[in-house]
Amino acid sequence: MSDRLFIFDTTLRDGEQVPGCQLNTVEKIEVARALEELGVDVIEAGFPVSSPGDFKSVVEISKAVTWPVICALTRAVPKDIDVAAESLKFAKRGRIHTGIGTSHYHIHYKLHSTPDEILERAVRAVKYAKKYVEDVEFYAEDAGRTDNEYLARVIEAVVKVGATVVNIPDTTGYTLPYEYGEKIKYLVENVKGIENAIISTHCHNDLGMATANTVTGILNGARQAEVTINGIGERAGNTSLEEVVMTIKSRQKALNIETNINTANIYRMSRMVSTMMNMPVQPNKAIVGRNAFAHSSGIHQDGVLKNRENYEIIDPKTVGINESSILLTARSGRAALKHRLHALGYDLTQEQLDAAYEKFLELADRKKDIRDDDIIVLVGDAHQKDRRIKLDYLQVVTGKTLTPVATVRLAIAGEKFVATCAGNGPVDAAIKAVKSIISRQVVMEEFLVQAITKGSDDVGKVHMELDHKGVKYFGFSANTDIITASVEAFLDAINSMPPSEEYNEQ
Ligand code: KIV
Ligand code: ZN
Repeated sequence: MSDRLFIFDTTLRDGEQVPGCQLNTVEKIEVARALEELGVDVIEAGFPVSSPGDFKSVVEISKAVTWPVICALTRAVPKDIDVAAESLKFAKRGRIHTGIGTSHYHIHYKLHSTPDEILERAVRAVKYAKKYVEDVEFYAEDAGRTDNEYLARVIEAVVKVGATVVNIPDTTGYTLPYEYGEKIKYLVENVKGIENAIISTHCHNDLGMATANTVTGILNGARQAEVTINGIGERAGNTSLEEVVMTIKSRQKALNIETNINTANIYRMSRMVSTMMNMPVQPNKAIVGRNAFAHSSGIHQDGVLKNRENYEIIDPKTVGINESSILLTARSGRAALKHRLHALGYDLTQEQLDAAYEKFLELADRKKDIRDDDIIVLVGDAHQKDRRIKLDYLQVVTGKTLTPVATVRLAIAGEKFVATCAGNGPVDAAIKAVKSIISRQVVMEEFLVQAITKGSDDVGKVHMELDHKGVKYFGFSANTDIITASVEAFLDAINSMPPSEEYNEQ
């Protein structure tokens, strides 16, 4: 049977310390409830002595949440512990998290103390907290840079007086995975009574190694991991919950350990925290980044479409993402376009697909991000291939101090016709040139230009309504070049008129 890893979420404490990420109590309750649904074992709800707001949040989260342990942070100071105990009075299961710096830096330069005095203060704090709650977690701040032999002495002393969990923070994100692993192993092998406590990891990401350090800690005997959603936290952040949980799930055989996390909630939880805390998730963030399951190169897209596992180690549905996304770019092949069109409800013949693919490549060269809207427009465009009047060439000269002039070449039943006209704008000049080739009497009743999404590289959609002998004809086109779209929409309407001898198109 595999071992159980307890997930201690500190999004609402260490995560919330990030400037600009502060939440109000109502928002914190919402996050705490979502964390409960996610299945975390412990919620660190705040640092109650730090502010009345933090105190209130711990009280309200204790009332709102049923199953997870609610934890409150303190320094090794009696007043902090009194306030934390008071804030936990409604918790079904409350934990006080107390501790003190144990590294040479913290002892000498922050606390101006001595190793023996620090050890005594640690013991006193744990004993004091034990008066209020059975479950007391001790943290040895900056344990990452603490000498292992001294750290073992401190941990042994606090376990002796009843610490139920011992937290070994790599506060500055300094350790290498093998060093952190050895530290945990050292404690497992050298602390008398360690079997009476759970060892906890708490890693920061200053060198980008928080997850690696956490996993190495687990491999060496830690059975609680302190994490945050999206890895938010001080400076470069804390270990990210989703990375640890999915490492454990996807490498189950290698690690032989389990968590209680309902992984299908991970993506929703990530989005919720990102939105509420105004902290965007980097696109290439493991597990929850926008590109974590997105494939853009033609070779990868083809491979994923043949078998998802060719290029994915996690099924995106496991973390609550509906499907892998095949990003359509200039590097995508026909298979990717066909797949996307099928998902959008278009099943084209090979000939139509080839035509759409050609248009797609043209568009992809001009537009980085091809969206579903663009694809729909492309298909509509591809379907217009067999029109009798086609725009073959268009050149427009325009500018602030120039009279716009357009040269248009049309292909009509296989023959080419060219005209050049000036106008009061580039669209006017181009339409006048078309009109000079096609001798139909038409009145433009409506001319509507819309952007499909946003951005200056967007596709513009043009709708046109023409009146010809009292009958209305509608035209539509889309192109990143708005003048081309306008001429094509005009021709679309002309093409929908019945061919007539009276209006012979030359
Ligand atoms: O990083 C750290 O050392 C901490 C402790 C207060 C647990 O966040
Ligand atoms: Zn921390």
